[in-house]
This record gives sequence, C-alpha cells and structure tokens, in this order.
Amino acid sequence: MDNEEVVCSCMNVTVGMIKDAIDNGARTFEEVQEATSAGTVCGICNDAVQEVIDKFIQG
Ligand code: FES
Repeated sequence: MDNEEVVCSCMNVTVGMIKDAIDNGARTFEEVQEATSAGTVCGICNDAVQEVIDKFIQG
C-alpha cells in the first residue's frame, strides 16, 4: 500500500495520513475521521478507509 495513495478524494486524505492518525492513537473509523476528515463528505470512501485502518491496526 502506497502512503501517497489518496483514499478519500473529497478531503484528499492519503494512506499515510490515516497511518499517522493511527500512530497518534486513533483506533476506530470515527477517530480516524475526526483526525483526518476522511469520509466526512460523500461517504463513498468509508469502506476503503476502514480497510486501511484494519490493515494498520492488525499490523
Ligand atoms: S471520498 Fe471520502 S468523503 Fe467523499
């Protein structure tokens, strides 16, 4: 997974930004959403955001 890959195009949130949020303590979709604004506009990226979260949390 490329850190530069945009997961949420509405808010221009990348894989790396989601990873940073998790490194800073975010554990749920809601916490990542709060930290990065990913998924706050159209919602179409929600599954993809969750997938990235799962991947980093499971290591
Ligand atoms: S692509 Fe993420 S809210 Fe629209």
